[in-house]
Amino acid sequence: MSEKESVCVTGGSGFIGSWLVRLLLGRGYTVHATVKNLASNWILILLELEREFGDRAVLWAEDEGETKHLRAMEGAEASRLRLFQIDLLDPASIHAAIRGAVGVFHLASPCIVDRVHDPERELLDPAVKGTLNVLRAAKESGVKRVVVTSSISAIVPSPSWPADVVKDENCWTDVDYCKQNEIWYPASKTLAEKAAWEFAKENGLDVVVVNPGTVMGPVIPPSINASMAMLFRLLEGCSEEYANFYMGSVHVKDVALAHILVYENTSASGRHLCVESIAHWSDFASKVAELYPEYKVPRFPKDTQPGLLRAQYPSKKLIELGMEFHSMEQIIKDAVESLESKDFIS
Ligand SMILES: NC(=O)c1ccc[n+]([C@@H]2O[C@H](COP(=O)([O-])OP(=O)(O)OC[C@H]3O[C@@H](n4cnc5c(N)ncnc54)[C@H](OP(=O)(O)O)[C@@H]3O)[C@@H](O)[C@H]2O)c1
Repeated sequence: MSEKESVCVTGGSGFIGSWLVRLLLGRGYTVHATVKNLASNWILILLELEREFGDRAVLWAEDEGETKHLRAMEGAEASRLRLFQIDLLDPASIHAAIRGAVGVFHLASPCIVDRVHDPERELLDPAVKGTLNVLRAAKESGVKRVVVTSSISAIVPSPSWPADVVKDENCWTDVDYCKQNEIWYPASKTLAEKAAWEFAKENGLDVVVVNPGTVMGPVIPPSINASMAMLFRLLEGCSEEYANFYMGSVHVKDVALAHILVYENTSASGRHLCVESIAHWSDFASKVAELYPEYKVPRFPKDTQPGLLRAQYPSKKLIELGMEFHSMEQIIKDAVESLESKDFIS
């Protein structure tokens, strides 16, 4: 394996970020991975343990940091993994993480889908201003290409899209509809992606975008993220239909690989829908119920996403770049096995 250039992954300790860091290290890249709290978790644990156990706390605390799973990755040794603490609203912290990197993968963004009290502060500012801060730092550092992680949430909800046309990269979430209905996560992803395209155009920065569906699969970090929590709740019997959030699922490893494909293929441009298929939450739930009858998965009406046309291979742009998507069945099996083996669910 030849040693490659340095790249920066914002949100490197998250669900998708951890897989991306693992694949990049495996390909020989040097990775600058950013986390929100490099030290504070350690300090909190350290203080608690120190109170209880005295000196031994120092050793134990180092083992409990949110970066332990990154440090344990093959290739993390020999300075090929560098960790940086950033705050998306602090340009200086972002500059420090990006300096020296040739490419940037911008994943960090708040993933809060319910109980939003202050949308501006909790979601919109970090998503939009954070993206602009990352792009500005990339431009100033002479970065060659930036991959921005957007979402299907920048594609749906889109109520005025023609009912007989399959949704694709030309479809955009209706931000006014989101604001009127207080659906803040899609608003944040859409405004952030639009800001990225505007910045790229005005500043001549090479930006390419991946729009993943609902991401599931093996979990590397010590806790589960919002999309794996959807599966967790389904297995627990929750009957929420996610009418404005769901459009299909995708394996977490495929999402990480899609980021690398669009980074490495200079011909890749624009948005890239990244889903195994366009499906309704009801399709996903009934497949989970079929595979895992021992869980109390609820029954849903046939169409949980009113007006969403199903499609077998909608991610044509990524398939043309060589992507082979895991099936929905494999996504579910890998995700449930991970939840069970890590004792998130039993
Ligand atoms: N999961 C999905 O189904 C899905 C689908 C489409 C798109 N996406 C997008 O994929 C990206 C990664 O999501 P994920 O699923 O991997 O979720 P995740 O595990 O919650 O990762 C989000 C990451 O963003 C970081 N972050 C959030 N706010 C930050 C802030 N103010 N400053 C610095 N870092 C901040 C978090 O850092 P810490 O871990 O250090 O807190 C975390 O690493 C996000 O942009 C998300 O919108 C996810």
